[in-house]
Amino acid sequence: MATISVYLKAGRLSLLLFPLYSDSLFAIAFVQTISYGSGIMKYSLTFLVLFLLQNVYSANSQSYIGVNYGDQALNIPQPGDIVNLLKTTTIAKVRLLGSSDESTKATIKAFANTNIGLVIGLDNSEIRWAATGPDAASQWVNSNVMPYYPASKIIIVTVGNEVLTSAGDEDAISSILPAMKNIQNALNTASLGEKIKVTTVHSMDLLTEFSPPSSGAFNDSFGDTMKALLQFQSEHGSPFMINASPFYAYKRDPKPETLAFCLFQSNSGQVDLRNNIEYMNMFDVQVDAVRSALNAMGYKNMEIVVAQTGWPYQNGPNEVGPSLDNAKAYVGNLINHLRSNLGTPLMPGKNVDTYIYELYDEDLKLGPKSEQSFGLFGADGSPHYDTGLFKSSQNSMTPTSPASPKPAPASTGTPPPKLGGIWCVPRPAGVSDAQLEENIKLGCSKGIDCSPIQQGGACFEPNNIESHATYVMNLYYQSNGRNPWSCDFSHTATLTTINPSYNGCNYPSG
Ligand SMILES: *[C@@H]1O[C@H](CO)[C@@H](O)[C@H](O)[C@H]1NC(C)=O
Repeated sequence: MATISVYLKAGRLSLLLFPLYSDSLFAIAFVQTISYGSGIMKYSLTFLVLFLLQNVYSANSQSYIGVNYGDQALNIPQPGDIVNLLKTTTIAKVRLLGSSDESTKATIKAFANTNIGLVIGLDNSEIRWAATGPDAASQWVNSNVMPYYPASKIIIVTVGNEVLTSAGDEDAISSILPAMKNIQNALNTASLGEKIKVTTVHSMDLLTEFSPPSSGAFNDSFGDTMKALLQFQSEHGSPFMINASPFYAYKRDPKPETLAFCLFQSNSGQVDLRNNIEYMNMFDVQVDAVRSALNAMGYKNMEIVVAQTGWPYQNGPNEVGPSLDNAKAYVGNLINHLRSNLGTPLMPGKNVDTYIYELYDEDLKLGPKSEQSFGLFGADGSPHYDTGLFKSSQNSMTPTSPASPKPAPASTGTPPPKLGGIWCVPRPAGVSDAQLEENIKLGCSKGIDCSPIQQGGACFEPNNIESHATYVMNLYYQSNGRNPWSCDFSHTATLTTINPSYNGCNYPSG
C-alpha cells in the first residue's frame, strides 16, 4: 500500500506520494485538508479513495526473472509438464541444477522452441575431468549443447557451483579456470563462443562481509584464483553469478527488524555511512556488496546475475524463518522489486537477472526440512502460495471499484492543471545538479526519446539541467508503468499533479 496525500490549496492541487510498501499495486489517496486564505475559512475534509496505480506489466515473459530447477525429488514432473507450467508464467529463464545426465538432457530438449533461456552446467564432480584437456570439454559440448542448440536456447554454461567456498577442495578449485577455458574453446570451435557464456556460481561466503554494501570485498584467501577468473570472464563478457541469501542472513540474525528487512517489508532502513545510501532490503545489500567487491577488483562493468535466491515455506523443529507467509512475502516482493526497474542503489535502473530458488521441492535433499521446502510449486503444478508469477495474475490487478478520476490525455500547448494528471519531477530541495545529470543519463540510456531537450527541440529552452532533468524523469516514469518506484531516481524524484508543461513543450501524463 502507499499513501497519497493530496493537499488542495487555493485552487492548486499538489500530490505527494509516499510508497510505504514496495509490493503495492494500489495507493490510498488521502485528501486531507483544504484551506483557503489565511485560515479564515478552513474546510477539513478527509476521505479515502482507492487509487489505481496503472501498471503496464506486459503479459509477456520478463527477461530478468528466472527459476532454478533441481530434480532431487521422488515425484518429478515430466519435462513436458515443466515446460507447460513455465509457459503460464512470466518466467523467462531456467537454471538446470542436475548433473549432465540423461534426465537433464531430456529437460533441455523439452525446452526446444519455447524461447525460454537455459542455464546448464557441469556439476562439481565433472570439473576435474573437464580440466583435463580439450577432448573432455568438446565431448561435453558435443553431448550437452550441440544436439539441442539453437532450438533449446542455451545462454549460459556454469562450471561448478560454490566450488571456491566448499571446504578446501583444492583440486576442484585449481581445476575451475582450466575447465572454463576448455569449455570456452570447445564452444568457440562450434562457433558458439559469443552466444553462450561460460561462468561459475559463487556463494555469498566468498565475501568477507556484505554489510555495509560499500565494504563488500572478496576474501583474500581466494585472491589469485579470483583475479584469474575475473580476467577470463571479462575477456569473454561472461556474468558474475552469485547465490544471494537473505534467508540465511536472517537465520544468523533472527530479529523481527531483520526479518522485515529481508522480506522487503516496511522497516526503518539501513544507512551505509560511507556513502549515505539508505538500503531498504537485504537483497539490495547483498547485490551491492558484490558490486563493490567487483568494483574494487577493477571490474565495474561486469554484469551480476543472482543465480539463486529463495525462501522456504515449511520448517522443521527449531527452525526460525521458514513459513508460508514469509516465503510468499519474500518471493512476491522480490518479483515486484525486480519489476519496478529501480535496480539497486549502486546500479539504479538496472534489472539484475535473478533466478528464484526453486521450481519444485527437492525432498531428497539432505538437511533440515527447510532445505526440502523451497519449491514454488507442487509436483502437480499447483502453487504453494501466490507468487504473482502467472501471466493471468498480472491482469487481475484491475480494480472493480471506481478509481480516482481518469488522468487527462496529454494535449499540446499549455494545458491547465487537471485533477488526475500525474507527473514525475525532481524533489523541490536537496537535489544536486550532478544527481540531476545522472538522472538525465539514466533516462536517456533507457530508450526514451530525449530529442526534445536537445538543441532545436521543443523543450531545449530553458537550457538548464533542472528543466532537462524534469523532462527526462517524467518521460521515464510515464514510459515505465507509472509505478511510484519508477519515479524514485535514488530518492531524488517526487510525483506532482502540477503540470510542468509550458509553451510548446508538452510533458505527457497518464
Ligand atoms: C576467508 O577464507 C578462509 C578459507 O576459506 C576462511 O578460513 C576465512 O575464515 C575467511 N575469512 C573471512 C573473513 O571470512
